[in-house]
Amino acid sequence: MLNTILSPDPLPSRAAAQVRSASTPLTRRPQWRALQKHHAQIGARHLRELFADAPARGECFQAEAAGLYLDYSKQRISGETLQLLWELADACGLRARIEAMFRGDRINTTERRAALHVALRAPAGTRILVDGRDVVPEVHAVLARMQAFCAQVRSGAWSGHGGRRIRNIVNIGVGGSGLGPAMACAALRHYRQPGLTFRFVSNEDGADLSEALQGLDPAETLFVVCSKTFTTQETLGNALAARAWCVHGLGAADALAAVARHFVAVSTNAAGVADFGIEADSMFGFPDWVGGRYSIDSAIGLSTMLAIGAANFRAMLDGMHAMDTHFRNAPADRNLPVLMGLLGVWNANFLAAPTLAVLPYAHDLRRLPAYLQQLEMESNGKHVTEDGFPVDHATGPIYWGEPGTNGQHSFYQLIHQGTQLVPCDFIGFCRPSGPPEPHRNRQHDLLMANLFAQGEALAFGRTEAEVRADGVSAAQVPHRVFEGNRPSSTLLAEQLTPHTLGALVALYEHSVFTQGVIWGIDSFDQWGVELGKALASRTAEEIVAPAEPSLAHDSSTNALIRRYRRLRGR
Ligand code: F6P
Repeated sequence: MLNTILSPDPLPSRAAAQVRSASTPLTRRPQWRALQKHHAQIGARHLRELFADAPARGECFQAEAAGLYLDYSKQRISGETLQLLWELADACGLRARIEAMFRGDRINTTERRAALHVALRAPAGTRILVDGRDVVPEVHAVLARMQAFCAQVRSGAWSGHGGRRIRNIVNIGVGGSGLGPAMACAALRHYRQPGLTFRFVSNEDGADLSEALQGLDPAETLFVVCSKTFTTQETLGNALAARAWCVHGLGAADALAAVARHFVAVSTNAAGVADFGIEADSMFGFPDWVGGRYSIDSAIGLSTMLAIGAANFRAMLDGMHAMDTHFRNAPADRNLPVLMGLLGVWNANFLAAPTLAVLPYAHDLRRLPAYLQQLEMESNGKHVTEDGFPVDHATGPIYWGEPGTNGQHSFYQLIHQGTQLVPCDFIGFCRPSGPPEPHRNRQHDLLMANLFAQGEALAFGRTEAEVRADGVSAAQVPHRVFEGNRPSSTLLAEQLTPHTLGALVALYEHSVFTQGVIWGIDSFDQWGVELGKALASRTAEEIVAPAEPSLAHDSSTNALIRRYRRLRGR
């Protein structure tokens, strides 16, 4: 029965059909109520008991796809919990929504757009229609242009204004236009072309750009300006400053000619790119149905492709596609993104955990928590349903984290003994990244021993009796007790390769989507970032106005602006 929930079925289930009506809020659904009742029975059960009751749990609560092995046995669930979560997901129309996404329906309802990132990694020959037009050939045409450009730069055929070889790539872009390439270039550093350096600039604070430019020769530097809209203040500000640095540094009489050899753009806004002075031939486009935080595999990946080459970039796309296919076809109880999505709902809504710690035991994945932070929090940080009704349950949790083992020596104390429940996603690899380096073997074993030990310690803790049996003094006992029962999942793969990275990214994309479907929210818009942007542009005028502006903010903001102006001598 469980396996049928996502199995092919030409007719939408009755439950799925009901979900599109706004009438039944999620928390009044019978499936939600069943989960509440179930939580009252199982919620207090300790992971020690759950493992004692089912000693083979560690071998049962696992699933594997696209090179990723997921162990979720240390989550505070039973088989019944999963069954009930599946029933909720089914009632929320998950199967139909997955099909709608893959079909190119306008599932981003508030922006009336498809969310079709899966088309970006669809093999050539696949047909995906948007407004009656097959979009896959267009995707592959852009990939081919990217490939040709990257080959030129990597071979030295593309030279700078003065004829020198390009040795430095500076990616300018923020949010989805910066985090993805920065994360992937760090993660896949072993696949990078030697002799090319990569820097990533995103912050409005000019310190970011000035640090990135340190030691670079403009004659050997190529800027990749990434902005879906090409209106983002931070990116345009950094791009203008970079252009001035470049033209001035080159001493170029013909600024446009210099820009033509040192700037390329990735955007959907051809007019904005042309206004900046970048030629149409040097612009790489992508469709508006690619959301910023889902664009790592679009032309936004140009810096990544420059770094790792087209073959490795395509291997990353293959990894994503393998996970897409799995998500679309695998039965629910073997489906990694569905399982992770369901566990996310259980932890956020029934165990009331407000955050999730992402803990990669791989230094090369140090940017992954920040990347997933945008993916999850911009997608599922929503307070109303798609229909505009306020939700009466928690939605997206706060994602945060650091690579292991660094976090162990800073914030793990709270996860082990604090008063908040922090579910953890551990991510590790059986072999060190890159080619064999014998001196890393021992370190890698220790690194992984730490990962396994942390999951075990969080789940099982250390009881008072065990602490006493160690001869600890009575006064120390309470401090040395670990309650345990802290849930975690572990993702294990053979090695961090482009294919694995692609699969990992797609896994989180689809698990975020699964949760969004259950919560009934639009995971593909981001209206919440607009208010701050609008206020900032008004405030920017006020803080530079030569005459004292009449301020109509609240008293706090007014006082801060006045103080800032005074200290800036205005
Ligand atoms: O302000 C949020 C946001 O729109 C993100 O969704 C996006 O990834 C980022 O800004 C950058 O936007 P753009 O690519 O248009 O510069």
